[in-house]
Parts: sequence; structure tokens; C-alpha cells
Amino acid sequence: MRLAQLVPWGTALASLAVSPTAAAPNADTSVYHDAETGFTFTQYFGKYSLNNAGITYRVAVPSGVAANTNFDVVVQVVAPNEVGWAGLAWGGGMTQNPLAAVWGTSSGGIISSRWADGHYLPRTYAGSTYQIFKTGTKHNGTHWQVTAKCSGCTSYTYGSSGSVNRLSPTGSNRLAFAYSATKPSNPSSSTSDFSEHSVIGFWNHDFGSAANPTFTTLVAKNLGTR
Ligand code: HEM
Repeated sequence: MRLAQLVPWGTALASLAVSPTAAAPNADTSVYHDAETGFTFTQYFGKYSLNNAGITYRVAVPSGVAANTNFDVVVQVVAPNEVGWAGLAWGGGMTQNPLAAVWGTSSGGIISSRWADGHYLPRTYAGSTYQIFKTGTKHNGTHWQVTAKCSGCTSYTYGSSGSVNRLSPTGSNRLAFAYSATKPSNPSSSTSDFSEHSVIGFWNHDFGSAANPTFTTLVAKNLGTR
């Protein structure tokens, strides 16, 4: 069996890529350089089972983003094939922030942009949009991986007062994940229904160590057509 069938992409090298000087002091993430797409990400391994199975969440940020502006990010999710859908909450909770529900498909993967006002199936959300990359979206015998650019994930309006929350491009942001073993009911559709998660988790994600000076060039290179 080839190594690539045994380990999710990048996990074997992840610990080597950690730079002790780069991480924000309170972050739960490590630096990971993805040779395939060329992006430098910071990553978090969200465990969902007692045998240490987990979902890897990676974020890449453009360099030089001014504070209090909207900025795009690249997100990469790597999950064992047993994961039916993986959730990412950009504001660190289920309600009143942009959510991503991510799953692998036989032809690649889907990221469904969602929003929840309560603890029930989140509705589709047009405030954030994902463009899935051709490079970096794939599956093998053990894992699926989806890579995409998101516009509108790092800034959002919440609550009845219209307050705006912006993630920090240089510091740590509190994110959350959700795990379900059950596949969406219509996996080929980004508007599919899906059932509730069985595990959730929270962490501090360092965006500052994920700055990419050639962000725009890399996005264009990896986007391709799918
Ligand atoms: C059918 C879809 C979903 C249902 C029915 C659902 C339901 C729920 C329920 C009932 C809770 C409260 C649990 C408790 O208090 O013990 C909860 C919490 C949570 N859910 Fe969901 N959820 C769904 C989708 C999602 C998605 C897509 C995400 C994306 C990340 C998500 C993230 C979270 C998080 C982070 C929490 C804990 C923090 C909070 O309550 O805000 N959920 N969910």
C-alpha cells in the first residue's frame, strides 16, 4: 500500500513545518506549507472520536491586509472518508455567523455556504461564496480533501442591530467545527439537507502565520475549471 493511501495529505509532514517563532501565543494551530497548491496555511486538527480520528482545517490569508477590511481566504479541509459532512463556523458558534458544510463527492467536493438563526438545519447563505479549486480537491482510498477560496467568510453582519464582525487578518480568530458521519441527503447538491452533527469543537486559529504574498497568483493558478 502506498503511503498516500495511509495518511491524509500533509499530516506526516505537518509537525516538521511548525515554526516555533511564527505562531500567535494563544493559537491552537501549526504552520503547514502545501506543496501541491503552493499556499502556506495554518491548520487545526479537530478530533471527533476517542481513537483520535479527526478533520484537518487549514486557512490561508493574503499578505498585507489592513485591519478592519474585508479579505478573502483560502480554506482546505481534509477528512477521513467516514466523515459525511464537516462543518466550519467562521465566527466560532452555530448561530449568527457564516457556516460552511463541506463534503467529498466522487467528482471532487462541495462547500455549502450556510447561516443559522437557531439550532436547526442552517439555510443557504449568499453572503459568503466559495470557489472550489481544481488543484487541491481530491479523494483517495482513505480521505477526501476540498480546497476553495472564500469571499465573505471574514466579515459578516449579525443580530437585529446590524452589527458587523470582522475576523483579524493578523491575529487569532475563534473558530468552531462540526462533524457528522451521515452524508447529506443529496450529496451532488450544495443546497442539500443534512442531519445534525454528533461532535462539535472550538479552537483559536492563527491567521497571522498564514499570510501569503502571492495569494492572488496562487488562487488563479489553482482555480482551474471544474
Ligand atoms: C441539520 C443541521 C444542524 C442541526 C440540526 C444542528 C443542531 C444543533 C444543536 C441542537 C446544537 C446545540 C447543542 C447543545 O447545546 O448541546 C448545536 C450546536 C452547535 N452547532 Fe449545530 N446544527 C446543525 C448544523 C450545524 C453546522 C452546519 C455547523 C457548522 C459548523 C454547526 C455548528 C455548531 C456549533 C459550533 C455548535 C455549538 C455552539 C453553539 O451552540 O452555537 N451546526 N447545533
